[in-house]
Amino acid sequence: MPSPAVAFAQENHPRFLEELKDLLRIPSISTLPEHAADCRKTAEKLAAELKRIGMENARLIETGLERGGGHPLVYADWLHAAGKPTVLMYGHYDVQPADPLEEWHTPPFEPTERNGNLYARGAVDDKGQMYMHVKALESLLAADGKLPLNVRVLLEGEEEVGGEGIAAYVATKPADLKADFALVSDTELFAAGLPTLCVGLRGMIYTELEVRGAKTDLHSGMYGGAAPNPFVALAQIIAGLKDREGKILIPGFYDDVEAPSAEELAAWKSLPFDEEHYRETEVGSKELVGEAGYSVLERTWARPTLEVHGMPGGFIGAGAKTVIPAKATAKISMRLVPNMTPAKAFAQYKAFAEKIAPAGVDVNVRLIHQGDPCLIPVDNPYIQAATKALHAVWGKDTVFIRSGGSIPIVGDLDRHLGLPSVMMGFGLPDDNLHAPNEKFNLENFRLGIESVIGFLAEAGK
Ligand code: BES
Ligand code: MN
Ligand code: MN
Repeated sequence: MPSPAVAFAQENHPRFLEELKDLLRIPSISTLPEHAADCRKTAEKLAAELKRIGMENARLIETGLERGGGHPLVYADWLHAAGKPTVLMYGHYDVQPADPLEEWHTPPFEPTERNGNLYARGAVDDKGQMYMHVKALESLLAADGKLPLNVRVLLEGEEEVGGEGIAAYVATKPADLKADFALVSDTELFAAGLPTLCVGLRGMIYTELEVRGAKTDLHSGMYGGAAPNPFVALAQIIAGLKDREGKILIPGFYDDVEAPSAEELAAWKSLPFDEEHYRETEVGSKELVGEAGYSVLERTWARPTLEVHGMPGGFIGAGAKTVIPAKATAKISMRLVPNMTPAKAFAQYKAFAEKIAPAGVDVNVRLIHQGDPCLIPVDNPYIQAATKALHAVWGKDTVFIRSGGSIPIVGDLDRHLGLPSVMMGFGLPDDNLHAPNEKFNLENFRLGIESVIGFLAEAGK
């Protein structure tokens, strides 16, 4: 027999899905200034919905006033479970840009159901998963007239751009965030049908490296041979940062890297992971690359990496233009693992990039955003409650994994507020996060809501 709250969720599921589609139609792309109004509209819609379902003190919290205004946080609470713990339920309503648009089978902001999936930008990252929390709360409040524990909801609109606003808010330790643990649904199942808790995330520094040569663009015939070419210099610097075996060459970069424990490594070995299947269906390249001596899971979860995201500048139009551009830039990020700090990694990288720059160019390295890595201790009652609730819904024991991705606020919640996070996510490895044809499995949306209901009930026992 399902609990009254689960029965409510099942009866109302078609409406829940329509509401999620309405949210997904708003292109709340946090990195593009022209979508700032869409971000605010999404925040206002969520605050109104939290109020409608019976949450109290629903409101927007402004952020980033010092930088001309960021995207607002959404807050709401329900604090009438005397003697019970308090959960901080976190999610993000902002999404990544949708380009390249021509690769989408249906438009990114027209959510479409296909083969048991809902396709849209933000379907799984993170609007769909964040909305599971809202609908779990609605189901509990509607069916029971109360919640099994105290709840604070905090949603952000800048996660995909580094989460500066929420980090500043959390660092001031507002009374609004007093809680015993956090619930975050912004991660994945290790495999379909396998209940999963994520207990580690990589941190990151996202940077822009600018190389300047001549004072202006130059005719490449008249000046080629005498004037420095910033793109060539940039390529030489990038090639100097990482060797062909995937080792980062920045001096001292690996000094603080903490290796996973023997138990953790043994647990990863027993996960159902097929490297060839991963190569072919998820990555789709002819070979996998990376540091010798480390498994794919170690490379992506427990080793730092350095990636180049794009190199804007110069001539990129159709056809040919013979120019030596005055400047070249590259967007470069590094993922950090436990015990590394963004400040130290950035200082080491900046000094080294400046040192290896070839003659004739000026190098300018800028930090765009940063986030700390984190590792969650699993010996707390909330993780126990989560595995129990997941077993009831999925009929299986939970696996503990790390993820190579970053959710900057998880480390901040630990550091500033002492909150352990339960990262209970229901994405799938092939959900195309940040890529064309992002999707959320509809069964996972449904079971995710039931899992959150079960977890909140269990944590409040
Ligand atoms: N939800 C992801 C992070 C994630 C992805 C965790 C898959 C676990 C599994 C999050 O929205 C994200 O994309 N974060 C960015 C953070 C960055 C912009 C600071 C990332 O990892 O690139
Ligand atoms: Mn996310
Ligand atoms: Mn994301």
